Amino acid sequence: MISAVDIENLYFKYRGMEEYILGGIDLKIEQGEVLAIVGLSGNGKSTLCYALNGIIPNTLKGELRGNIKIFDQHVKDMNRAELASKIGVVFQDPDTQLFSPTVEDEIAFGPENLCLPREEIGARIDHVLKLTGMEAYRYENPNNLSGGEKQLIALGAVLSLEPNILVFDEAMAQIDDVGKERIKGVVKKLKDRGKTIIMIDHDFNNLDIAHRVVLLKKGKLYDFKGEL
Ligand SMILES: Nc1ncnc2c1ncn2[C@@H]1O[C@H](COP(=O)(O)OP(=O)(O)OP(=O)(O)O)[C@@H](O)[C@H]1O
Ligand SMILES: [Mg+2]
Repeated sequence: MISAVDIENLYFKYRGMEEYILGGIDLKIEQGEVLAIVGLSGNGKSTLCYALNGIIPNTLKGELRGNIKIFDQHVKDMNRAELASKIGVVFQDPDTQLFSPTVEDEIAFGPENLCLPREEIGARIDHVLKLTGMEAYRYENPNNLSGGEKQLIALGAVLSLEPNILVFDEAMAQIDDVGKERIKGVVKKLKDRGKTIIMIDHDFNNLDIAHRVVLLKKGKLYDFKGEL
């Protein structure tokens, strides 16, 4: 079976900076695997996420070397739509991810951009609202929701493109305990459904979801042995 993610000898430094943030990363993630990445602040966890979904080098510039493949296809050869249909990222701050006037519009945004048929878009909205437990908020303005609810909608917007790979970059860090549990519940469901999941989390309590934990330290990856 081909790997969901296959990173080979990846180096990256931001434009204008001296030091390599990623200094030779090799990582294979199998389909259906839940991988947690831990590491101290500034060690390049988010940078690795940006490289995985093409934000680096498309939006954030710098010097990138090595290979990143998703389902055997080079990320650099994939356009934005292809990438979004294969890998979705949920970031720390839901406010930076939401921009539509209603929850429904937010979730429909991606599928509409892919010009999917109306019925298909409707079916995806229903499915995502059910999966995230947010059916009652369909016509709400996302601004009126709690942090946890906003994050569930940000996740819903990503899920509406039905990517096999989901990346959570400290997605629970700013969320209250009730919201965290709800998000964790959805992540568990996604795991059970065989999605490939990359979780970056400072809270070791959330690591129990992961099949495997790796440590990113000074630009290199190690098996996590309990110490940062
Ligand atoms: N756009 C950028 N331009 C230049 N340097 C950057 C940029 N973004 C991040 N960096 C630098 O790259 C390094 C790694 O940052 P990154 O955000 O990837 O770390 P992180 O492990 O995600 O940290 P945290 O746990 O705080 O989220 C830091 O030194 C940071 O200052
Ligand atoms: Mg980060």
